[in-house]
Amino acid sequence: HQEKYNEQYRPQVHFSPEKMWANDPNGMVYYDGEYHLFYQHTPHAVTPDFPKMHWGHAVSTDLIHWKRLPPAIAPDKHGAIFSGSAVVDVNNTSGLGTQMNPPLVAIYTYHNRQLEVTGCDTFQYQGLAYSIDKGRNWIKYEHNPVLPNPGIRDFRDPKVSWHPESEKWIMTLAVLDHINFYSSPNLIDWTLESEFGEGIGAHGGVWECPDLFPLQVEGTDEIKWVLLVSINPGGPNGGSATQYFVGEFDGHVFEPHGERTKWLDYGKDNYAGVTWSDIPDEDGRRILLGWMNNWQYANEIPTSGWRGAFTLPRTLELTEIYNDYLLVSSPVKEFEKLKSGSKKISGSTVSGMQEINMKPQFPMEINLNFNTENNTAMNFGERFGIILSNEKNESLKIGYDNLNKLFFIDRSNCGWDSPNQEFAGIHYAPYVVSSPSLDLKLIIDESSVELFAIGGLVSMTEQLFPSEKFTSISLYSEKGDVELLSGTISNLSSIW
Ligand code: FRU
Repeated sequence: HQEKYNEQYRPQVHFSPEKMWANDPNGMVYYDGEYHLFYQHTPHAVTPDFPKMHWGHAVSTDLIHWKRLPPAIAPDKHGAIFSGSAVVDVNNTSGLGTQMNPPLVAIYTYHNRQLEVTGCDTFQYQGLAYSIDKGRNWIKYEHNPVLPNPGIRDFRDPKVSWHPESEKWIMTLAVLDHINFYSSPNLIDWTLESEFGEGIGAHGGVWECPDLFPLQVEGTDEIKWVLLVSINPGGPNGGSATQYFVGEFDGHVFEPHGERTKWLDYGKDNYAGVTWSDIPDEDGRRILLGWMNNWQYANEIPTSGWRGAFTLPRTLELTEIYNDYLLVSSPVKEFEKLKSGSKKISGSTVSGMQEINMKPQFPMEINLNFNTENNTAMNFGERFGIILSNEKNESLKIGYDNLNKLFFIDRSNCGWDSPNQEFAGIHYAPYVVSSPSLDLKLIIDESSVELFAIGGLVSMTEQLFPSEKFTSISLYSEKGDVELLSGTISNLSSIW
């Protein structure tokens, strides 16, 4: 029996906790036909109670439909359970399972409040727990912690993966304003290999929730290493966001290509995203999921009974363009099966506001393709895109600003603004469109929109809390016309 979750703002195609608080995705691992999603969770409060942080738990066989399970890992005498990762210890290097039944091993940060209040800086360190029953029960390693704190306040969010070339486990750890890489033969004994991050990347806040993985460069045999680093604050539109570096990793040192700071997602609501471990080689995808929120207003968003949802799972690909390596994101292909009743919007020239003649039903996916071939002011408006509005005159605008070469999501007049005024606003993603056409994919749920533009080269994720549902959709173009080459609108069926 599956509950119907249909309260106001409850996501219908995204995972959210049934009740209470959720932040960062944790321990994402594929094991024996199941995708596990753990997450930062306080089972007793709708705001984060850090000294009592648990790992919440859900499983899925298709990355789309989720079964919620009881919290998996609870605080103990070492502290609360902060973010971390999980792997399948296939060769039982840890000795915590058997060759026949390899253990699932979770490595996470202990946050020790008792120590923190004494003014001591060593209150975050890494602990280990394992499961020998498909992630249902977790046993804490008896000699925790596995990586003690060397005297640095921010020392957290281990992401562990197997490095076949050096036949070692690698832990990527966020340490204040940089990354430490450690190696281990057995997931228990860790050796510092190197540090990365001084003088490169964005440094407007503390570094958190890193991830390190290889990706093939599209259309080549080349493998590059991608290092994701979440940062809070200091994102491109304020608050929390995730930057990334592309380079080489030899099991010891990460060597980046280029100096430019790159962002995984320019919207304000995609944070702490990391990728699934142990996806089988036959599948070969690198799949990311982020927390759809921003610490600027996370504790205040106007949902009731629960707080904090997650982005869609996204396939990440790497492409070489403009002498740089860029990540391309798109919703996982399994998402397609939620689509039904697709309707075509006929190609036309858009000038001013043009309402699309249909009653919108949410959640929905909208795909638009604009002609950008002859982009004079006459046939290519300065700002064009789509507007959703409701009877309260609240509206959401999404599109491209050709004068300033920026994609944008404008939620400045879209209902809820946070008490600290960080929510409403127009948020931008810089991108010079040089292709003959420009495509926008929008996935709009009850309280969010995800924009994938230029085939996923640009993505923006934002929450929305309009006081009433949107009732009309219009295309628009300011100061000039733009030609819509094609468009479709599809309904998405609820995952609950
Ligand atoms: C990121 C973060 C992590 C930490 C967790 C605590 O959002 O601050 O660095 O482990 O949240 O819930």
